[in-house]
Amino acid sequence: MKVLGISPLDKDATASLVEDGAVLFAAAEERFSRRKQHAGFPRRAIAAALEATGTAPSEIDLVAYPFFDWPEEVELIERGLAAEAALHASHEIDVRPALRDALERIPDRQGEISGLSHPNQRMAKGRLKELAYAAAGTSPWLSDRVARRASRGWARAAAEAHRHWNRELVTSLEELGLSDKLRRYEHHLSHAANAHLASGFDRALILTLDGYGSGLSGSVSLGEGGEIHRLRDLLFPFSLGTYYEAVTSSLGYNPTRHGGKIVGLAAYGDPEVLGEILLSRFDRSIPGDLRMHQNLNLYFSRHLASHFPMVDVAAAYQWALEIIVAEIASHWAAESGCDAVVLSGGVVANVKMNQRIHEAEGIERIFVYPNMGDGGCGTGVALLETLAGGRGAPIEHAYHGPEYSEREIAAELEREGLAFTKVPNLAAEVAKRIHAGQVVARFDGRMEYGPRALGNRSILYHAREPHVNQWLNQRLGRTEFMPFAPVTLYEARERCYQRTTGAELAAQFMTITFDCTDWMGESCPAAVHVDGTARPQLIRREVNPGYYDIVHEYEKLSGIPCLINTSFNMHEEPIVCTPADAIRAFVRGNLDVMAIGPFLVEAPGSDS
Ligand SMILES: [Fe+2]
Repeated sequence: MKVLGISPLDKDATASLVEDGAVLFAAAEERFSRRKQHAGFPRRAIAAALEATGTAPSEIDLVAYPFFDWPEEVELIERGLAAEAALHASHEIDVRPALRDALERIPDRQGEISGLSHPNQRMAKGRLKELAYAAAGTSPWLSDRVARRASRGWARAAAEAHRHWNRELVTSLEELGLSDKLRRYEHHLSHAANAHLASGFDRALILTLDGYGSGLSGSVSLGEGGEIHRLRDLLFPFSLGTYYEAVTSSLGYNPTRHGGKIVGLAAYGDPEVLGEILLSRFDRSIPGDLRMHQNLNLYFSRHLASHFPMVDVAAAYQWALEIIVAEIASHWAAESGCDAVVLSGGVVANVKMNQRIHEAEGIERIFVYPNMGDGGCGTGVALLETLAGGRGAPIEHAYHGPEYSEREIAAELEREGLAFTKVPNLAAEVAKRIHAGQVVARFDGRMEYGPRALGNRSILYHAREPHVNQWLNQRLGRTEFMPFAPVTLYEARERCYQRTTGAELAAQFMTITFDCTDWMGESCPAAVHVDGTARPQLIRREVNPGYYDIVHEYEKLSGIPCLINTSFNMHEEPIVCTPADAIRAFVRGNLDVMAIGPFLVEAPGSDS
């Protein structure tokens, strides 16, 4: 049975072609359209899937879409709003005295945080705005009304958006002659399905967490074999996705794309300044549930951001998030007698939170679906449908996208007038260049599916130099507070990281942090964050021999089994997809050398 999974059209639209539990092809539309987090029907990705697999539209048995029809979604939103109104009615919070005390706890920081003008930088917005934030975000009477109004406004906008995307879905499927094959699914079932069915675990607690989907912001289920049984719905608007988006936007970043910057920033801050205040926004009276006060009141986070250092605001949001999620995971692990947890949903892109879940009481094993955001939902329901209750095999890799032949690559290089040579032992040559201090772009094989570059569309550099984060990010037009992630030989994991046991599969996709060993801290300072953690990609040779061999050859030269791996793209552009994209990014990024297919390309103007 062949199923075309289409992820929600509102952001990061992705197409997946799945047959009998195997992903034949999966890629996000953004890689083809070159529009980050592309919203709209993924027509180019579908065309690429059909072409790469030689499939005619008529051979598709089913189109799986992970949202209900819009009237049903609207009804489900109303259920959550009613629950929020009931919680509002039972509480009145006055955070103002606690906030006054918190001002006294701000540490006097010196030193430098790259990307901030001062380590205690705050989001100064002017007196008028700050007064408005204080009133609407913290005064008990007004903040409650503002929160309710925000929830109702959100619901109206969501209803309109669902109607809009539904129309686009149906019309676009009609054009392909596929509209009668459309089947819809509950959104969080699709997240649960990709996490459980790709984990290879027999029995697992499934935790999904995102902004919104089918009336929910999350779910807890038990996966047994190929079956998924729901244990608890986590209702929107109690949503950790919107909670984190609020702090991301209040600190001046793009709420849907830059959550990772807040995770990085949080490590510099002190959660003691505001952590308890954030935690008091959660109602923890029902164990294993998620309930929050005034979650959609954006003025509260705006108020914090304008009065407190950015690092302390980020630290508080991250700290409270970790506590709440670890509590939920531990509660359900005890209830279900299950020590394995699998995760999916946009919130689980938070690699630090995932480490806390792995360390939580009762949890021994963890897996995080590599395409954890909504881009992975179409694949989730397609797996569920084609496995039909059968067990999934553990995911081996995420190289599900398009690939290009030697001939196509050579033709593109010639068209751009770049000199290239075919090198007999390319891995050894690349390792030698990296050891000598060159920045190498690597383009090879099938493109990664999901948000991370995992070696086939990556930029590689040695991890010995602590300041590389500043200059290389600057060259690539990025601001990051987290260091680059290290790719590490699978066999060397215990030399570099602590407590990887039970998280070996998750760590192959850069989805979880670990505390580093002293050896790692000394040998690879460029990859270790200020809190002593790193988010590695463990690489096994059978998964990607060309990539593995580069790290292995580098280890022979340096004694270090790690390199830093960052995505091959320019500022705010999607990761490169085609040889033409790679050449453009290579030249614009002033990188030293590019290994593309079997070829080595020197930077134009270099005399190497
Ligand atoms: Fe989602």
